[in-house]
Amino acid sequence: MAESMQGWKRTHRCTELSTANIGEEVTVMGWVQKQRNKGGIIFVDLRDRSGILQIIFEESDCGAESFAKAEKMRSEFVIAVVGKVEKRSGAVNENLATGEIEIRAKEVRILSESDTPPFPIEADSKTKEEMRLKYRYLDLRRPDLQQKMILRSKIASEMRAFMAKEGFLEIETPILCKSTPEGARDYLVPSRVHPGSFYALPQSPQIYKQLLMCSGYDRYFQIARCFRDEDLRADRQPEFTQADLEMSFVDVDDVIDVNERLIQHICKEAIGLDVQLPLPRMPWQEAMDRYGSDKPDTRFEMELVNVSDVVKGCGFGVFTSALENGGSVRGLNVKGQAAMPRKKIDALVDFAKGYGAKGLAYLCVQEDGTYKSSFSKFMTEEELEALVKAMQGEKGDLLLFAADKNNIVYSVLGALRVELGKQLGLIDESKFNFLWVVEFPLLEWSEDEERFVAVHHPFTMPMEEDWQYIDSDPGRVRAKAYDIVLNGVELGGGSVRIHQDDIQEKMFEVLGFTKEQAWEQFGFLLSAFKYGVPPHAGLAYGLDRFVMLLVHADSIREVIAFPKVKDASCLMTEAPGTVDEKQLGELQIAIVPAAEEDTEEEM
Ligand code: AMO
Ligand code: AMP
Repeated sequence: MAESMQGWKRTHRCTELSTANIGEEVTVMGWVQKQRNKGGIIFVDLRDRSGILQIIFEESDCGAESFAKAEKMRSEFVIAVVGKVEKRSGAVNENLATGEIEIRAKEVRILSESDTPPFPIEADSKTKEEMRLKYRYLDLRRPDLQQKMILRSKIASEMRAFMAKEGFLEIETPILCKSTPEGARDYLVPSRVHPGSFYALPQSPQIYKQLLMCSGYDRYFQIARCFRDEDLRADRQPEFTQADLEMSFVDVDDVIDVNERLIQHICKEAIGLDVQLPLPRMPWQEAMDRYGSDKPDTRFEMELVNVSDVVKGCGFGVFTSALENGGSVRGLNVKGQAAMPRKKIDALVDFAKGYGAKGLAYLCVQEDGTYKSSFSKFMTEEELEALVKAMQGEKGDLLLFAADKNNIVYSVLGALRVELGKQLGLIDESKFNFLWVVEFPLLEWSEDEERFVAVHHPFTMPMEEDWQYIDSDPGRVRAKAYDIVLNGVELGGGSVRIHQDDIQEKMFEVLGFTKEQAWEQFGFLLSAFKYGVPPHAGLAYGLDRFVMLLVHADSIREVIAFPKVKDASCLMTEAPGTVDEKQLGELQIAIVPAAEEDTEEEM
């Protein structure tokens, strides 16, 4: 039987009470964490989002009726208690913020009862994630998840406060859009009024924020929901949140400056972390050469070494043919791991193959100074000696080599480096290593499309000193684009945008757009640019990733209230779902079975 709270008003959250309140009469409300009946005395741990408070029931204080209610209380009942704050009668509980006090109940109401929950509501749950996501409303009661959500809210409000202070205006942009030129697949929404036409959900507010610059709002900020139909991973969701900004009359350094101070402010306010400014910057090429990644985890060393010059002309065909094909040979020195069992090395080879490697060559510098290697028989003693020296190999070291096209070598060794860093415990988890990766290439060659595609997007400004190569060697042109990386995760990215129409036209030409195609897709932006466009630049953070890293969560699912799983479904609401014929009819949409089934029927 559920009672009303008529006439009662909550005076405190559980942990807002302390020894300073001893003697006061208070009213607290929340969920029963645990009830312990010790005969004449009943203890109840009351939980709300602030934490836990102990209530003590004795018939002589609360009367028979309330005592009877306390007797039937079970976990997750919602109760309201009027009582007096007292010093704890039993031992002080040092694990609780309210461990020195308890409430001696005078009267209690059961506001609602609860079935036995499918899993215990406790921190560090051992329950499988699928189960937790199915009952997310219960999962969200768990204290560790609540702390993460509270911190997320704090981070968002601190961001707003900082941006407002810096003169940024918060402006909302549409959710029903035309598609934006980011790389992922769009989510489409059919139009009822315009049958056969579709809106796209925004992959980011990119074009709108550029238009706002054209409109003179010179500093824009928004915490914006974005949608991308792409394969999900631990740090990717189909809908996610960006902290998105754009500024006028600025260049790279201005954007970096305001964002560094934003990062410093957030880290201090959210987790008490002092971030030293300026943050380090690294050109993209250096990041690739040293870490094999455009988002290097700089919390540990083990950098890549380019041994192409050393192995040039050696007897090992795998190495020399990679070089002849314009690739490179690079290695990792895994310190002190020469005795790694063969099985484990084979697992590393398989791991490398998962990243596109044809193989992974290894050489162990054994304690007696001899080499054990998958390729030593192809090389002379001198060649091996030179290779080990170039790798700064010492007794006990395991050297791993990849030989291929540069992009494969980078991705294989970059991934292997991070994997080994984790496996061998080389990463200091207490560190927060921020890094700007700057001077990204403007364009990259797409094997699939057999044309250059924009690395960031088609509105990214080239570096002035490289623009001369746009016809002769487009791949060499660097962009005024930057990413902010934290502990090997891409936290955010942005660029200076093109505002000169001759540069923009050339970009479209290099990207293989005809004038007509460019106007068809981005006409409204190009048109806006004809009426006075300021130089502008911006950046967007993945807010979910930012929170994930600050709270040391393994996945962004842990910092999103209602996340989706790998196949982009929601286990709680079972979205996406079918809709009825009437709805489809209004949209003039018919569900056509997949082509394969058609053929099966024909056969
Ligand atoms: P970009 O595409 O790099 O840039 O996105 C910015 C940041 O958003 C986060 N992010 C994601 N987070 C969770 N799930 C996803 N599926 C996902 N995709 C991206 C990342 C990323 O760094 N308009 C530009 C920004 C600009 O140029 O100003 C943009 O969207 O942390
Ligand atoms: P193979 O002669 O093909 O058996 O290769 C000899 C060694 O070179 C094995 O350890 C392979 O894993 C390794 N290997 C093969 N291809 C490559 C490559 N592209 N890069 C690095 N090592 C390779």
